[in-house]
Amino acid sequence: MSSLPRVSVGLLGLGTVGAEVLRLLADEAHIAERAGVRIVPVKAAVAHPDKTRDDVPRVPLTGNPREVVESPEIDVVVELIGGIEPARSLVLRALELRKPVVTANKQLLAEHGPELFERANASGVDLRFEGSVGGGIPLVRSIRESLAAARIHSITGILNGTTNYMLTRMAQEGWTFEDALAAAQRHGFAEADPTDDIDGHDAAAKLAILASAAFGCRVTSADVFREGIAAISPRDMAYARELEYAIKLLAIGRLRDGDVEVRVHPALIPLGHPLALVADEFNALEVEADGLGPVVLSGRGAGGPPTAVAVVGDIIDVARTRALGGHGSAEPIRMSPKRIRPIAEVILPFYLNLQVTDRPGVFAKVATVFGEEQVSIASIVQKSRGEVAEVIFVTHDAPERSVRRVLERLRGLEVVKAVNSVIRVEATL
Ligand SMILES: NC(=O)c1ccc[n+]([C@@H]2O[C@H](COP(=O)([O-])OP(=O)(O)OC[C@H]3O[C@@H](n4cnc5c(N)ncnc54)[C@H](OP(=O)(O)O)[C@@H]3O)[C@@H](O)[C@H]2O)c1
Repeated sequence: MSSLPRVSVGLLGLGTVGAEVLRLLADEAHIAERAGVRIVPVKAAVAHPDKTRDDVPRVPLTGNPREVVESPEIDVVVELIGGIEPARSLVLRALELRKPVVTANKQLLAEHGPELFERANASGVDLRFEGSVGGGIPLVRSIRESLAAARIHSITGILNGTTNYMLTRMAQEGWTFEDALAAAQRHGFAEADPTDDIDGHDAAAKLAILASAAFGCRVTSADVFREGIAAISPRDMAYARELEYAIKLLAIGRLRDGDVEVRVHPALIPLGHPLALVADEFNALEVEADGLGPVVLSGRGAGGPPTAVAVVGDIIDVARTRALGGHGSAEPIRMSPKRIRPIAEVILPFYLNLQVTDRPGVFAKVATVFGEEQVSIASIVQKSRGEVAEVIFVTHDAPERSVRRVLERLRGLEVVKAVNSVIRVEATL
């Protein structure tokens, strides 16, 4: 092993992911065998250097992350602090010093990707980020490398484990959103402040990263249309199932007539679709490309050990390039600008749950509104009778703008007592 080239690594952050990265790297013989390079962690920066870390392999610690980034002894910088600052400045500095960077920081990439890649390209060094999306599932590399020859036109994913766990429990146990959230927090799947997950911010950041790679254009979190799962009710779950659909929080990227559609929202998906079968905290991504057909990758989308496998895979890759005397390329894909299609222009079917007065002539009034706005109805199911009836409509493909107009007009009808829910449908039966 001592005859192998040696690459030294500096870590920024030794938390859930950082500690697991250090544990994997501690198996030096296995890593050297797989990598053909000796990879040696030489220093780690943490916020609290005096904290006891008995369960983490020993490495010299510092409270000053610049010491790691700027040390001439360190060849590769691994950023696992998270958040924007100081992570952004540290990564930029490392790239400026022509050190390859590996990170799992989805927020940083999704908000500041263009700036980071520009710096990496200017320095001619690698910036790797497999761990930022889908934990241990090799999504980024599959899209950038294995599927490089494919013309990808669609990516559809379940990219947030917390919300998938909650929706699975709501579907299987009939739980409310609140019950499911409390259970997710008890099991450690949801943070004390779950906003990032339930409002779709986390999935939107991951979608921005994957869409950039799949469609060859820079997509940031701000480009992604986002709607969370808080409005989904156990009744919607039950009705969807009766109609042979599951409800999932989907992250969807589509290339349509040269435009890019990027959206994260709850959606009905046929029960037989591979993504409908992805349960609990698992994640999955379906990629579709001309001539390729659907390819589905799935697995544990978060957690220290799976994410560390992705991070160390990236470290091995950049260490090999370094040891061979190369610099690597920050962004193998050439990026070209594309228009982000506004949500109002997106065309897809909708599920609408209305409460209407149960008397003759009501359906005709409601149907007239749909007809005048050119939204055609695929199916109608009346769920309850009495003075007020609950009616489910599933439309054919319709521009979102038209469906919004239908809803606005329906809300103005005296016979429509409430619009209980509006959920997009992804892939019809
Ligand atoms: N956890 C996951 O399942 C997962 C999955 C995929 C991606 N990620 C991403 O991986 C990254 C790390 O996540 P994590 O869960 O490992 O975070 P974490 O457990 O909160 O750990 C953060 C680490 O950064 C250190 N730190 C914080 N501020 C610092 C500063 N100013 N200077 C130096 N060190 C600092 C902390 O030091 P102390 O230990 O002294 O507090 C800690 O070791 C994030 O970008 C996250 O989004 C996480």
